[in-house]
Amino acid sequence: MGATRAALGLDEDDRALDEAVRARDESARGLDEDARALDEGGARVRELGFSRGRRVRLLFTGVPPALDRITKLTVSNLRCLESVEIELGPLNVGIGGNGSGKSSVVEACWLLRRSVAEGFVSELYSEHVGAVGLFRRGARSVSLGVRCEGDAGHPLDYELEIRDMGSGGLAVSRERVSLHNGKGPSPFRVLDRDANVARVFDTKTGKSDQFEVAPNTTVIAGFRGRPHEQPAFPRLVNALTSIEVHLPLSTVPRWASRLLRAEPSMRDSVLLQPAGRLGFGAENLANCYFALRNDKSEQHWQTTMDYVRLGLGADIESVNTRVDPAGGRVALSLKRFGVEVQESAFALSEGMLTYLAYVALLRLEAPTSLLVLDELETHLHPRLINRLVAFLDTISERTTVLAFTHSDRLLDALPDPARSVLLLELTESHATQVRRPNEEALKTWLDVYAGLGDARAAGHQKSVFGAGL
Ligand SMILES: Nc1ncnc2c1ncn2[C@@H]1O[C@H](COP(=O)(O)OP(=O)(O)OP(=O)(O)O)[C@@H](O)[C@H]1O
Ligand SMILES: [Mg+2]
Repeated sequence: MGATRAALGLDEDDRALDEAVRARDESARGLDEDARALDEGGARVRELGFSRGRRVRLLFTGVPPALDRITKLTVSNLRCLESVEIELGPLNVGIGGNGSGKSSVVEACWLLRRSVAEGFVSELYSEHVGAVGLFRRGARSVSLGVRCEGDAGHPLDYELEIRDMGSGGLAVSRERVSLHNGKGPSPFRVLDRDANVARVFDTKTGKSDQFEVAPNTTVIAGFRGRPHEQPAFPRLVNALTSIEVHLPLSTVPRWASRLLRAEPSMRDSVLLQPAGRLGFGAENLANCYFALRNDKSEQHWQTTMDYVRLGLGADIESVNTRVDPAGGRVALSLKRFGVEVQESAFALSEGMLTYLAYVALLRLEAPTSLLVLDELETHLHPRLINRLVAFLDTISERTTVLAFTHSDRLLDALPDPARSVLLLELTESHATQVRRPNEEALKTWLDVYAGLGDARAAGHQKSVFGAGL
């Protein structure tokens, strides 16, 4: 973290405050874990037992398998993503020109998350405009894949193919789940689906079961929530449903949202509901702060408030959530020290709301296998961009982060740019190519420039990333 702070270029006061916050955060985390261990003693023991060996029977106790991280993403024939394979470290930040494929990667991650939903194929039409909206020109199918890795077992690969069956009709045409168990030269195939025939390896009997599947659903959607003697399924479902995707946060002012007929944004009051994670578009922001204030410890809340003050000013006394007793709705407001009247969410600035959402993302600590963020820097002043990078660095200690930006300044704030940065560029055939920096070349440039972004902005992209195209 020392490197992060140096890279962030924070001033001394800021740094001291940062240290204090971190120290309190660490101790709060310790307390929380102790409390959780007391509360959930039994469950915890079961979970540990599962993660250490292949004690498959433990799957049926109702304890979810330990959550994997997603460590690889593959996409073929989704618009400009003709054939893209991205090995994911803890923190990955992609940069590239307009149309270079950033948002298409984000959409691919969303599709993978939704692949376990019953209505997956119908959503391809209703939300993604079917083959016309998704498929690369001339392609008849789109393929998506992930690798999941963690304490729950051997690395696991999932591949999914969606095919145009003619006249724009879509079907799941291939699905594979493979386990890298180190036995034999190739990974062990747990699920093999071709068109409507699927073969699943049953761990208990040691045999494969063959059955028919409907073309408009994935096999793993069928197994969701149902016990099966194949431990790879709940693991995979857990990982895919825990992919969290965020587009630039919707902060349209209320007057404009009426004119634009936009959906409610995080400025509006929302129905009071539990919030385990920041929802899509951060529309449940008020519920997130309600949960942070009421469901976590007092110490955890105080640290959350310290993060808020770090970004929005030391005069902020509290982020409040007021419940409207008539409608059971909750609204967000900001209270400043010595100021009676609170500032309601609908009157806060775009950057303030966005920053509050990122604090919630950090502090809710939701179980996530892959956190995907598009246009990261939207609405944020460079100083807050630096804070955001520090948040993402912290989040990447527990999950894989894949974020996209147009900001060179953001790249300068990364603690380990050689391992984090991805450059997306289009080839002559309009296909996205993804490259990592050349570590040696980058070292040389970092002697001269403030960071990778600075060197790139000064025109040295080719030597930092290699000639490539
Ligand atoms: N059917 C298609 N076949 C091939 N390429 C396509 C097809 N439809 C769109 N494209 C291209 O796919 C790309 C989609 O861009 P995408 O939205 O992923 O880019 P981006 O990097 O997010 O850009 P921005 O920075 O502007 O948000 C564009 O280059 C577009 O021209
Ligand atoms: Mg985009």
